[in-house]
Amino acid sequence: MTACDVRSDEDVARVFGEVSQAFDGGLDLLVHSVAFAAAEDLEGRFTDTPRDRFWLALDVSAYSLVACARAAEPLLEARGGGAIVTMTYLGGERAVPHYNVMGVAKAALDSSVKYLAWDLGQKNIRVNAISAGPVRTLSARSIAGFPTMEAIVEERAPLHRHIDADDVGAAAAYLLSDEARNVTATTLYVDSGYHAMGL
Ligand SMILES: NC(=O)c1ccc[n+]([C@@H]2O[C@H](COP(=O)([O-])OP(=O)(O)OC[C@H]3O[C@@H](n4cnc5c(N)ncnc54)[C@H](O)[C@@H]3O)[C@@H](O)[C@H]2O)c1
Repeated sequence: MTACDVRSDEDVARVFGEVSQAFDGGLDLLVHSVAFAAAEDLEGRFTDTPRDRFWLALDVSAYSLVACARAAEPLLEARGGGAIVTMTYLGGERAVPHYNVMGVAKAALDSSVKYLAWDLGQKNIRVNAISAGPVRTLSARSIAGFPTMEAIVEERAPLHRHIDADDVGAAAAYLLSDEARNVTATTLYVDSGYHAMGL
């Protein structure tokens, strides 16, 4: 598989063409796990986000799901339906200091999940999101307030512990499986219950 910059329609078309060739014109599952914002926009004030970097974050982190879902649609349809999962975060629903423009991108992503689920449901294609608690990935470390986010989850989440990438994988395996055949347009929180807390 060759590189794919999700901002490029040509790249997306080429990669899904390669996928089609590799899997005999069909696809069962699509995992969308892509996000980007300029490091300087993940610190300081959201108010100061310039126009070009606002659209950059929205393009890579939210529109890419729409572009990939559209490209995957005929392949998923060829198999009689399938499932799409994307990765979101609570910062799209609530203001999380430092998450800033990425929170706005996640809000657009969350809404896109619902509209895509409506469009694609008639082809038996399900679209869901996993809202994960903080996991120390390369991208996460570029968020200025990340250590604070981790500390607050440990202190205040009902389970008082961090999640790891395997927890997200297990949730994705469920959402992508036939066990979740009647689950679409929803967000599954894998965050030790933190999303339920008011304080
Ligand atoms: N790590 C966390 O705490 C956390 C929590 C909730 C949600 N998420 C979400 O999980 C997803 C994966 O992030 P991660 O934390 O595993 O970090 P990651 O750095 O492993 O993944 C981000 C990926 O996006 C890719 N990417 C960036 N710009 C791209 C572009 N223009 N074209 C194609 N690919 C591009 C990178 O190559 C990378 O593989 C993201 O949507 C992120 O917002 C992460």
